[in-house]
Amino acid sequence: MMYPLSIFLNNLLLTLFLIRLVTLFPVTNTKPATFLEDFRITWSDSHIKQLDGGKGIQLLLDQNSGCGFASKKKYLFGLVSMKIKLIPGDSAGTVTAFYMNSDTDQVRDELDFEFLGNRTGQPYSVQTNVYAHGKGDREQRVNLWFDPSADFHRYSILWNYHHVVFSVDEVPIRVYKNNEHKGTPFPNSQPMGIYSTLWEADDWATRGGLEKIDWKEAPFYAYYKDFDIEGCTTPEPSACASNRANWWEGPSYQRLDAGAARRYRWVRMNHMVYDYCTDKRRNPVTPPECLINGI
Ligand SMILES: *[C@@H]1O[C@H](CO)[C@@H](O)[C@H](O)[C@H]1NC(C)=O
Repeated sequence: MMYPLSIFLNNLLLTLFLIRLVTLFPVTNTKPATFLEDFRITWSDSHIKQLDGGKGIQLLLDQNSGCGFASKKKYLFGLVSMKIKLIPGDSAGTVTAFYMNSDTDQVRDELDFEFLGNRTGQPYSVQTNVYAHGKGDREQRVNLWFDPSADFHRYSILWNYHHVVFSVDEVPIRVYKNNEHKGTPFPNSQPMGIYSTLWEADDWATRGGLEKIDWKEAPFYAYYKDFDIEGCTTPEPSACASNRANWWEGPSYQRLDAGAARRYRWVRMNHMVYDYCTDKRRNPVTPPECLINGI
């Protein structure tokens, strides 16, 4: 049977269009992941509830327990993000954490986001820390410029061969560069899992432990959704460590662009409340990475 030429041409155009679409939008993880696709509960099943057909979850903290979850797989480089809505009102003494950890005792690598609660009306602080080859003690804190319990915000960790960037929505709040060639350690050989916990830490979390948790306000709830893990995972970590072809290693992810650099400076000038780099009591000698992690 013969098709009229016009139908043939139409089909040809449609095919070309579809090919073009596919090349424009590479097919990586396009559908929103459900919680159980990527994660499992690691602490207190009874305190984690799935919402919205498993696309979101609710974490609960009460006097009996906090709770936590972890990714099923480990990754070596990638971009991880989730949207979180933190405990509203009086959250003093509570800590909600989102972090990556190599789970190795000896030479631990770890990238931390810790949300430190506060009394009603006082700003939440976000503490970040970087452990590389077993050494941490690199805390920085910023006070958030919005109420993180009023709505969901996206918190992400970009980890590639060039740097680690912690971001809140599209605002970088911390950059830790790979300057291994200058002798500063950088996590680049061990895969890390993704973890989150909600727990009580009123011995240190709020105003250095002065503000205690008010159990009359319990139970405390935090909400998560839009889990997104784009990372390299293989049984053989060295294959990930040496692969520079993944998109998160691309030119636009190797350094902050002008807009992001401007937002990063704005955070550091207006919202930074603690930096280990300038804590002379703890670090009489400025740690080497502080000298080169400037903007
Ligand atoms: C809590 O609020 C106090 C007073 O505004 C502020 O100094 C502190 O940085 C806030 N965050 C924490 C975690 O204490």
